[in-house]
Amino acid sequence: MSQAEQTGANSRRRVLTGITTTGTPHLGNYVGAIRPAIAASRDRSADAYFFLADYHALIKCQDPQQVHQSTREIAATWLALGLDTDHAVFYRQSDIPEVTELTWLITCVTAKGLMNRAHAYKDAVQKNTEQGEDPDFGITMGLFSYPILMAADILIFNATHIPVGRDQIQHIEMARDIGQRFNHIYGEHFVLPEAVVASETAVLQGLDGRKMSKSYGNTIPLFVPEKQLQKLINKIKTNLLEPGEPKDPNDSAVFQIWQAFATPEQTAWMREQFAAGIAWGQAKKELFQLINEQIAPARARYEELMANPGIIEEILRKGAEKARAEAAERVSALRRAVGIAPMA
Ligand code: TRP
Repeated sequence: MSQAEQTGANSRRRVLTGITTTGTPHLGNYVGAIRPAIAASRDRSADAYFFLADYHALIKCQDPQQVHQSTREIAATWLALGLDTDHAVFYRQSDIPEVTELTWLITCVTAKGLMNRAHAYKDAVQKNTEQGEDPDFGITMGLFSYPILMAADILIFNATHIPVGRDQIQHIEMARDIGQRFNHIYGEHFVLPEAVVASETAVLQGLDGRKMSKSYGNTIPLFVPEKQLQKLINKIKTNLLEPGEPKDPNDSAVFQIWQAFATPEQTAWMREQFAAGIAWGQAKKELFQLINEQIAPARARYEELMANPGIIEEILRKGAEKARAEAAERVSALRRAVGIAPMA
């Protein structure tokens, strides 16, 4: 029996994840997070909650225009790719005020020492120290308390399984700690969540062969126009081997990205092409066709949604309605649990 089940509050599998709204989705996000999550949204044996973490975005980005634009792009991306919003609850974090209310209730049981140990905060302190600055230079309370807001996101729906990248595992452990502490003081209210980490193969290489990441500036945005997609794929770094010379698939970003989009048969075929010395230009042309074919229909839907944000807003409003009904009920019980209740 998992720990989530031991609390007894909810034994059904409930998947939840948030997407911080600061960037434009790229192929790495698609392969590593979006594609598996959309597949999960169709699995009727589990509840699914996906949300736009726009309050988290404020911790990293204080450009209102960028936060707003990114929220729209990420919502349009998920919808265009076929997120099943009849089954999955798809909402914007800021539409659920109960999340921030719960944040305070759990902030009051969270040890400051626990937050001192958070990697993101520790890294920032270390950077300051190395540069001879005050240890807390430029660090906001938002960054410091970030894991508490994230714990509230999870605990408010008693989610059991949280798909995240490796860098987020510590935050899920902190959500467990915080939930456990609350349960210890006020009774069994929260299910303790578990992180679900995607396998290493889900990490896509970028244009320069390092992990595809916005912070490295080596990404291929998912829904750029066709011409630009082709241009970017042509920029993927390769070695100087000539056409006709055998190439090593295990040492190639072109092959690694191919594999992320191809069937096993197509992957075997490309492996043979590499052994036979396919020209880099040709391999990239094949790669462009493979990716373009798969994303072209979604790209058309994406463009339509971006041109009609009212459609996105309407879907988010419906999602928030579903999410909020549940959140409000839970937070109201939690308020009573801590002693905040009507006089009579
Ligand atoms: N912090 C997560 C990230 O940057 C996003 C996030 C916010 C999240 N709240 C969450 C993920 C709750 C899972 C569960 O990737």
